[in-house]
Amino acid sequence: MQDRKLDHIELALQSKHHPIASTFYYEPLLSSHPWQTMDLGLNFLGAKMQAPLWISSMTGGTEKARVINHNLAKLANHFGLGMGLGSCRSLLESRERMQDFALREVIGDNPFFANLGIAQLEQLIEQGQMHKVQNLINDLQVDGLIIHVNPLQEWAQMEGDRYKEAPLETIKRCLDLLKTKIIVKEVGQGFGPNSLISLMNLPLAAIDLAGLGGTNFVLVELARHSALSAGKREALLKLANIGHYNGEMIQWVNDHLKSSKSLCREFIISGGIDNMIDGYQLQLALKAPSIIGMGSAFLKYAENFEDLMEFTQTQLESLKLAQCFLKERI
Ligand SMILES: Cc1cc2nc3c(=O)[nH]c(=O)nc-3n(C[C@H](O)[C@H](O)[C@H](O)COP(=O)(O)O)c2cc1C
Repeated sequence: MQDRKLDHIELALQSKHHPIASTFYYEPLLSSHPWQTMDLGLNFLGAKMQAPLWISSMTGGTEKARVINHNLAKLANHFGLGMGLGSCRSLLESRERMQDFALREVIGDNPFFANLGIAQLEQLIEQGQMHKVQNLINDLQVDGLIIHVNPLQEWAQMEGDRYKEAPLETIKRCLDLLKTKIIVKEVGQGFGPNSLISLMNLPLAAIDLAGLGGTNFVLVELARHSALSAGKREALLKLANIGHYNGEMIQWVNDHLKSSKSLCREFIISGGIDNMIDGYQLQLALKAPSIIGMGSAFLKYAENFEDLMEFTQTQLESLKLAQCFLKERI
């Protein structure tokens, strides 16, 4: 388990592909540089954030992960950002690694969410053990739970879980059984239109698109296991390209927002975004409140707090630049 987490940190940084196309005009004449007065703050997930930037769920369960999580939470507090924890699965059985995850005091009042996989939730429901999740949420003092849905990764992982139920049914049960805000995400391969629409019709606090083009866990698993047979390697390579980019998903979301059936109206746009210029363009395209999530872009700097601060400061200034000088093509 610990090895797997470490592998994920190392390999996720090497598994990126896909640039974003520009659909905006650059208008250098029409704005000043209003740095001091520009407010990036917004209300999201029922809380105030100082900028539309989210630290995607990554890690926990190792010493290195503890340092990374502490740095990320401190960063979120400094800039008023939100953060999702990496999978808290290990805490369901023992609180031994609680210090990796219990960051409420570090992150302050900013949005802070626990994270579990749909496979664990399916098992806990089956065993009548969902009180363990509610206890975890209470102990971590989080604002809610992120559920990750990752059937391709589970299949690619030698030690991966298999679902007995369709994840949609498990998510509905979680909404019934848990008294907390719930976000649903993929882990970097996005959602097709019918999955997205089904999610939008549920009373979720938000959907995190976690689209294709960045960290790709099928490629991560491929890199972890050098002893895989040629047949399995080929099958995994094929799977790695399956999924949906943010641009495509945003169109489906926009179409369905017009329907009165859509109950979930906040979105985290993430997956393959490593700068706020791209993030801003995607945000403008999506016709609902949204923020930008980044995983590996933060991870790259996460062991050194000064580097993280510098990266984030630059990204927030990029966002201000984008808001001043990039205009939507109509
Ligand atoms: C090292 C690492 C560990 C991750 N662990 C989790 C996890 O435990 N739960 C989860 O929902 N997503 C996990 N993810 C996926 C990210 O939350 C995110 O969806 C994905 O990395 C795509 O974003 P990116 O391209 O900006 O990295 C992990 C990502 C990385 C890089």
